[in-house]
Amino acid sequence: MKTCIVVSGGDAPGINTAIDSFARLARQNGDHALGAQGGFAGLLDDQLVELDCSLVSLLAGRGGSILPSSRRPALQDPKARERLSEVMRRRGIDNLLLFGGDGTIRHVAPLLARWGIAYIVLPTTIDNDVAGADYTLGHDSACNFALGVVNGIRATAHALPGRIFLLETLGAPTGHLALAIAYASGADLALLPEYPLGLDWLCERLTEIVARQGLALVVLSEAYPDIDRLVEEIPRRNGIRLRYTALGHAQRGADVSHWDRCVARDMSRVAWRAFKHGIGSGTVLWREGAALLHQGSLTSELKPPPDRRQFEFINQL
Ligand code: F6P
Repeated sequence: MKTCIVVSGGDAPGINTAIDSFARLARQNGDHALGAQGGFAGLLDDQLVELDCSLVSLLAGRGGSILPSSRRPALQDPKARERLSEVMRRRGIDNLLLFGGDGTIRHVAPLLARWGIAYIVLPTTIDNDVAGADYTLGHDSACNFALGVVNGIRATAHALPGRIFLLETLGAPTGHLALAIAYASGADLALLPEYPLGLDWLCERLTEIVARQGLALVVLSEAYPDIDRLVEEIPRRNGIRLRYTALGHAQRGADVSHWDRCVARDMSRVAWRAFKHGIGSGTVLWREGAALLHQGSLTSELKPPPDRRQFEFINQL
Protein backbone atom coordinates (compact mmCIF):
# COMPACT_ATOMS: atom_id res chain seq x y z
CA MET A 1 0.00 0.00 0.00
CA LYS A 2 1.29 3.48 -0.87
CA THR A 3 -0.12 6.52 0.95
CA CYS A 4 0.55 10.16 0.23
CA ILE A 5 0.27 12.50 3.22
CA VAL A 6 -1.16 15.95 2.46
CA VAL A 7 -1.46 18.83 4.91
CA SER A 8 -4.34 20.91 3.65
CA GLY A 9 -5.01 24.32 5.25
CA GLY A 10 -3.64 25.56 8.57
CA ASP A 11 -1.17 23.49 10.55
CA ALA A 12 -1.69 22.44 14.16
CA PRO A 13 0.49 20.89 16.86
CA GLY A 14 0.32 17.11 16.61
CA ILE A 15 0.57 16.82 12.83
CA ASN A 16 4.22 15.83 13.09
CA THR A 17 3.40 13.22 15.74
CA ALA A 18 0.70 11.73 13.52
CA ILE A 19 3.02 11.71 10.49
CA ASP A 20 5.68 9.96 12.58
CA SER A 21 3.13 7.44 13.80
CA PHE A 22 1.67 6.70 10.37
CA ALA A 23 5.12 6.44 8.74
CA ARG A 24 6.21 3.99 11.43
CA LEU A 25 3.16 1.78 10.90
CA ALA A 26 3.77 1.84 7.18
CA ARG A 27 7.43 0.91 7.61
CA GLN A 28 6.71 -1.88 10.09
CA ASN A 29 4.15 -3.44 7.75
CA GLY A 30 5.96 -3.16 4.46
CA ASP A 31 3.83 -0.23 3.26
CA HIS A 32 5.04 3.07 1.87
CA ALA A 33 4.21 6.62 2.99
CA LEU A 34 5.41 9.74 1.23
CA GLY A 35 4.47 13.40 1.58
CA ALA A 36 3.25 16.31 -0.54
CA GLN A 37 5.22 19.54 -0.23
CA GLY A 38 2.75 22.46 -0.23
CA GLY A 39 -0.63 20.80 0.28
CA PHE A 40 -2.75 19.92 -2.75
CA ALA A 41 -0.99 22.56 -4.85
CA GLY A 42 2.24 20.64 -4.25
CA LEU A 43 0.63 17.28 -4.93
CA LEU A 44 -0.77 18.47 -8.27
CA ASP A 45 2.70 19.79 -9.16
CA ASP A 46 4.19 16.41 -8.29
CA GLN A 47 6.13 17.91 -5.39
CA LEU A 48 6.42 14.69 -3.43
CA VAL A 49 9.10 13.73 -0.93
CA GLU A 50 10.15 10.56 0.78
CA LEU A 51 9.79 10.92 4.54
CA ASP A 52 13.09 11.06 6.35
CA CYS A 53 12.11 8.82 9.26
CA SER A 54 14.78 9.95 11.70
CA LEU A 55 13.93 13.62 11.05
CA VAL A 56 10.21 12.91 11.39
CA SER A 57 10.70 11.17 14.74
CA LEU A 58 13.02 13.96 15.90
CA LEU A 59 10.31 16.55 15.15
CA ALA A 60 7.37 14.46 16.37
CA GLY A 61 6.94 16.67 19.45
CA ARG A 62 7.32 20.00 17.68
CA GLY A 63 4.48 22.18 16.41
CA GLY A 64 3.95 23.09 12.78
CA SER A 65 4.26 20.47 10.08
CA ILE A 66 7.29 18.90 8.52
CA LEU A 67 5.25 18.83 5.29
CA PRO A 68 4.38 22.40 4.32
CA SER A 69 0.73 23.19 3.65
CA SER A 70 -0.92 25.73 1.37
CA ARG A 71 -4.03 27.91 1.47
CA ARG A 72 -4.26 27.85 -2.36
CA PRO A 73 -7.57 26.25 -3.45
CA ALA A 74 -5.72 24.07 -5.98
CA LEU A 75 -8.54 21.55 -6.35
CA GLN A 76 -10.85 24.22 -7.79
CA ASP A 77 -8.75 24.35 -10.94
CA PRO A 78 -10.71 22.75 -13.84
CA LYS A 79 -7.74 20.49 -14.58
CA ALA A 80 -7.29 19.40 -10.95
CA ARG A 81 -9.14 16.09 -11.16
CA GLU A 82 -7.25 14.90 -14.20
CA ARG A 83 -3.91 16.11 -12.80
CA LEU A 84 -4.50 14.46 -9.42
CA SER A 85 -5.43 11.11 -10.97
CA GLU A 86 -2.42 11.30 -13.25
CA VAL A 87 0.06 12.00 -10.42
CA MET A 88 -1.46 9.27 -8.25
CA ARG A 89 -1.44 6.72 -11.06
CA ARG A 90 2.13 7.49 -12.14
CA ARG A 91 3.42 7.45 -8.56
CA GLY A 92 1.43 4.33 -7.65
CA ILE A 93 -0.38 6.12 -4.80
CA ASP A 94 -3.37 4.18 -3.43
CA ASN A 95 -4.77 6.70 -1.01
CA LEU A 96 -4.35 10.10 0.66
CA LEU A 97 -3.99 10.83 4.36
CA LEU A 98 -5.20 14.40 4.89
CA PHE A 99 -4.68 16.82 7.75
CA GLY A 100 -7.05 19.79 7.89
CA GLY A 101 -9.87 21.57 9.64
CA ASP A 102 -13.43 22.48 8.79
CA GLY A 103 -12.58 23.69 5.26
CA THR A 104 -10.90 20.41 4.33
CA ILE A 105 -13.82 18.38 5.69
CA ARG A 106 -16.54 20.53 4.09
CA HIS A 107 -14.97 21.26 0.72
CA VAL A 108 -12.02 18.97 -0.07
CA ALA A 109 -13.32 15.64 1.24
CA PRO A 110 -16.65 15.68 -0.70
CA LEU A 111 -14.75 16.53 -3.89
CA LEU A 112 -12.34 13.61 -3.47
CA ALA A 113 -15.26 11.29 -2.67
CA ARG A 114 -16.98 12.38 -5.89
CA TRP A 115 -13.79 11.81 -7.88
CA GLY A 116 -13.42 8.30 -6.41
CA ILE A 117 -10.10 9.06 -4.69
CA ALA A 118 -9.46 7.10 -1.50
CA TYR A 119 -8.75 9.43 1.43
CA ILE A 120 -9.00 9.74 5.19
CA VAL A 121 -9.02 13.08 7.01
CA LEU A 122 -7.57 13.65 10.46
CA PRO A 123 -9.25 16.82 11.82
CA THR A 124 -6.48 19.10 12.98
CA THR A 125 -7.03 22.63 14.21
CA ILE A 126 -6.25 24.43 17.44
CA ASP A 127 -9.73 26.01 17.17
CA ASN A 128 -11.61 22.80 18.14
CA ASP A 129 -14.48 23.82 15.90
CA VAL A 130 -15.01 20.85 13.58
CA ALA A 131 -18.62 19.72 13.32
CA GLY A 132 -19.11 16.17 14.55
CA ALA A 133 -15.84 16.06 16.51
CA ASP A 134 -15.64 16.50 20.29
CA TYR A 135 -11.97 17.32 19.93
CA THR A 136 -9.54 18.32 17.19
CA LEU A 137 -5.82 17.61 17.21
CA GLY A 138 -3.71 20.55 18.39
CA HIS A 139 -6.24 22.23 20.68
CA ASP A 140 -4.71 21.01 23.94
CA SER A 141 -1.20 22.11 22.95
CA ALA A 142 -2.50 25.58 22.02
CA CYS A 143 -4.25 25.79 25.41
CA ASN A 144 -1.08 24.74 27.24
CA PHE A 145 0.92 27.38 25.39
CA ALA A 146 -1.56 30.01 26.57
CA LEU A 147 -1.44 28.75 30.17
CA GLY A 148 2.35 29.25 30.19
CA VAL A 149 1.83 32.86 29.10
CA VAL A 150 -0.87 33.36 31.76
CA ASN A 151 1.65 32.24 34.41
CA GLY A 152 3.97 35.03 33.27
CA ILE A 153 1.19 37.60 33.20
CA ARG A 154 0.01 36.63 36.69
CA ALA A 155 3.55 36.94 38.05
CA THR A 156 3.94 40.54 36.89
CA ALA A 157 0.31 41.34 37.71
CA HIS A 158 0.84 40.37 41.35
CA ALA A 159 4.16 42.19 41.54
CA LEU A 160 2.70 45.45 40.28
CA PRO A 161 -1.01 45.57 41.12
CA GLY A 162 -3.64 47.86 39.66
CA ARG A 163 -3.71 46.70 36.06
CA ILE A 164 -6.08 44.95 33.67
CA PHE A 165 -4.58 42.27 31.41
CA LEU A 166 -6.21 41.40 28.13
CA LEU A 167 -4.94 38.18 26.58
CA GLU A 168 -6.00 37.54 22.99
CA THR A 169 -6.03 33.98 21.69
CA LEU A 170 -6.31 32.66 18.13
CA GLY A 171 -9.37 30.57 17.31
CA ALA A 172 -11.31 32.61 14.79
CA PRO A 173 -14.11 32.53 13.87
CA THR A 174 -15.26 30.72 17.02
CA GLY A 175 -14.64 31.19 20.74
CA HIS A 176 -14.02 27.55 21.73
CA LEU A 177 -10.27 28.06 22.17
CA ALA A 178 -10.63 31.26 24.21
CA LEU A 179 -13.27 29.69 26.47
CA ALA A 180 -11.11 26.63 27.19
CA ILE A 181 -8.16 28.87 28.11
CA ALA A 182 -10.25 31.28 30.18
CA TYR A 183 -11.72 28.45 32.23
CA ALA A 184 -8.45 26.61 32.87
CA SER A 185 -6.53 29.78 33.71
CA GLY A 186 -9.12 31.06 36.18
CA ALA A 187 -9.62 34.22 34.12
CA ASP A 188 -11.94 36.87 35.52
CA LEU A 189 -13.70 37.35 32.20
CA ALA A 190 -14.00 35.49 28.90
CA LEU A 191 -14.92 37.45 25.78
CA LEU A 192 -16.23 35.32 22.94
CA PRO A 193 -17.57 36.37 19.53
CA GLU A 194 -20.69 34.23 20.06
CA TYR A 195 -21.77 36.10 23.22
CA PRO A 196 -20.67 39.77 23.06
CA LEU A 197 -20.96 41.84 26.23
CA GLY A 198 -21.78 45.54 26.57
CA LEU A 199 -18.88 47.95 27.01
CA ASP A 200 -20.51 49.76 29.96
CA TRP A 201 -21.04 46.50 31.80
CA LEU A 202 -17.48 45.42 31.03
CA CYS A 203 -15.92 48.64 32.35
CA GLU A 204 -17.94 48.49 35.53
CA ARG A 205 -17.11 44.85 36.16
CA LEU A 206 -13.40 45.41 35.55
CA THR A 207 -13.29 48.36 37.95
CA GLU A 208 -14.93 46.18 40.61
CA ILE A 209 -12.53 43.26 40.02
CA VAL A 210 -9.38 45.41 40.17
CA ALA A 211 -10.63 47.14 43.34
CA ARG A 212 -11.31 43.77 44.97
CA GLN A 213 -8.23 41.76 43.95
CA GLY A 214 -5.68 44.19 42.49
CA LEU A 215 -5.67 42.73 38.98
CA ALA A 216 -8.05 41.53 36.32
CA LEU A 217 -7.30 38.88 33.71
CA VAL A 218 -9.48 38.86 30.61
CA VAL A 219 -9.11 36.15 27.97
CA LEU A 220 -10.61 37.10 24.63
CA SER A 221 -10.91 35.50 21.24
CA GLU A 222 -9.29 37.20 18.24
CA ALA A 223 -12.76 37.17 16.66
CA TYR A 224 -14.33 39.31 19.42
CA PRO A 225 -15.80 42.43 17.83
CA ASP A 226 -13.75 45.64 17.83
CA ILE A 227 -10.85 44.71 20.10
CA ASP A 228 -8.99 47.95 19.31
CA ARG A 229 -11.91 49.92 20.70
CA LEU A 230 -11.88 47.87 23.93
CA VAL A 231 -8.16 48.48 24.40
CA GLU A 232 -8.70 52.21 23.98
CA GLU A 233 -12.02 52.70 25.75
CA ILE A 234 -11.64 50.62 28.92
CA PRO A 235 -8.69 52.56 30.40
CA ARG A 236 -10.14 55.84 29.17
CA ARG A 237 -13.44 55.20 30.97
CA ASN A 238 -12.27 53.66 34.23
CA GLY A 239 -8.76 55.17 34.54
CA ILE A 240 -7.10 51.78 35.12
CA ARG A 241 -4.01 50.82 33.17
CA LEU A 242 -4.67 48.12 30.62
CA ARG A 243 -1.99 45.84 29.17
CA TYR A 244 -2.67 43.82 26.07
CA THR A 245 -0.99 40.59 24.89
CA ALA A 246 -1.80 38.74 21.66
CA LEU A 247 -0.64 35.14 21.56
CA GLY A 248 -0.66 35.21 17.76
CA HIS A 249 0.80 32.46 15.63
CA ALA A 250 3.31 31.40 18.29
CA GLN A 251 0.28 29.70 19.87
CA ARG A 252 -0.38 27.67 16.75
CA GLY A 253 3.24 26.56 16.57
CA ALA A 254 3.25 25.35 20.20
CA ASP A 255 5.10 22.21 21.25
CA VAL A 256 2.88 19.13 21.23
CA SER A 257 1.30 18.26 24.60
CA HIS A 258 1.17 14.74 26.02
CA TRP A 259 -2.56 14.58 25.24
CA ASP A 260 -2.15 15.64 21.62
CA ARG A 261 0.65 13.14 21.12
CA CYS A 262 -1.67 10.36 22.32
CA VAL A 263 -4.57 11.61 20.17
CA ALA A 264 -2.28 11.88 17.13
CA ARG A 265 -1.05 8.31 17.54
CA ASP A 266 -4.58 6.94 18.08
CA MET A 267 -5.93 8.82 15.06
CA SER A 268 -3.17 7.69 12.73
CA ARG A 269 -3.59 4.08 13.84
CA VAL A 270 -7.32 4.23 13.04
CA ALA A 271 -6.56 5.75 9.62
CA TRP A 272 -3.90 3.18 8.78
CA ARG A 273 -6.19 0.28 9.77
CA ALA A 274 -9.04 1.69 7.68
CA PHE A 275 -6.79 1.92 4.63
CA LYS A 276 -5.63 -1.65 5.22
CA HIS A 277 -9.28 -2.76 5.30
CA GLY A 278 -9.77 -1.10 1.94
CA ILE A 279 -12.04 1.65 3.27
CA GLY A 280 -12.27 4.30 0.57
CA SER A 281 -13.14 7.47 2.44
CA GLY A 282 -13.72 8.77 5.92
CA THR A 283 -12.82 11.11 8.76
CA VAL A 284 -11.23 10.04 12.02
CA LEU A 285 -13.31 11.79 14.64
CA TRP A 286 -12.45 12.09 18.30
CA ARG A 287 -15.74 11.25 20.04
CA GLU A 288 -16.52 10.18 23.59
CA GLY A 289 -12.84 9.75 24.41
CA ALA A 290 -11.76 7.67 21.42
CA ALA A 291 -10.73 7.98 17.78
CA LEU A 292 -13.40 6.51 15.50
CA LEU A 293 -13.70 6.29 11.76
CA HIS A 294 -16.72 8.18 10.42
CA GLN A 295 -17.69 7.22 6.89
CA GLY A 296 -19.88 9.51 4.91
CA SER A 297 -20.39 13.23 4.74
CA LEU A 298 -20.11 15.67 7.63
CA THR A 299 -21.21 18.69 5.63
CA SER A 300 -24.68 18.89 7.19
CA GLU A 301 -23.37 18.73 10.78
CA LEU A 302 -22.95 21.89 12.82
CA LYS A 303 -20.54 22.43 15.68
CA PRO A 304 -22.50 23.69 18.69
CA PRO A 305 -21.42 27.13 19.99
CA PRO A 306 -19.09 27.32 23.02
CA ASP A 307 -20.64 26.07 26.26
CA ARG A 308 -22.91 28.88 27.39
CA ARG A 309 -23.02 27.70 31.00
CA GLN A 310 -19.24 27.70 31.29
CA PHE A 311 -19.17 31.18 29.73
CA GLU A 312 -21.75 32.43 32.26
CA PHE A 313 -19.89 30.80 35.14
CA ILE A 314 -16.59 32.50 34.27
CA ASN A 315 -18.26 35.88 33.76
CA GLN A 316 -20.55 35.46 36.78
CA LEU A 317 -23.64 36.25 34.77
O1 F6P B 1 -7.87 27.88 12.01
C1 F6P B 1 -6.66 27.89 12.67
C2 F6P B 1 -6.13 29.27 12.83
O2 F6P B 1 -4.91 29.22 13.51
C3 F6P B 1 -7.06 30.27 13.52
O3 F6P B 1 -7.04 30.12 14.90
C4 F6P B 1 -6.51 31.57 13.03
O4 F6P B 1 -7.47 32.59 13.03
C5 F6P B 1 -6.10 31.25 11.61
O5 F6P B 1 -5.86 29.86 11.56
C6 F6P B 1 -4.87 31.98 11.15
O6 F6P B 1 -4.63 31.66 9.82
P1 F6P B 1 -3.35 32.15 9.00
O7 F6P B 1 -2.20 31.30 9.46
O8 F6P B 1 -3.70 31.93 7.58
O9 F6P B 1 -3.11 33.55 9.40
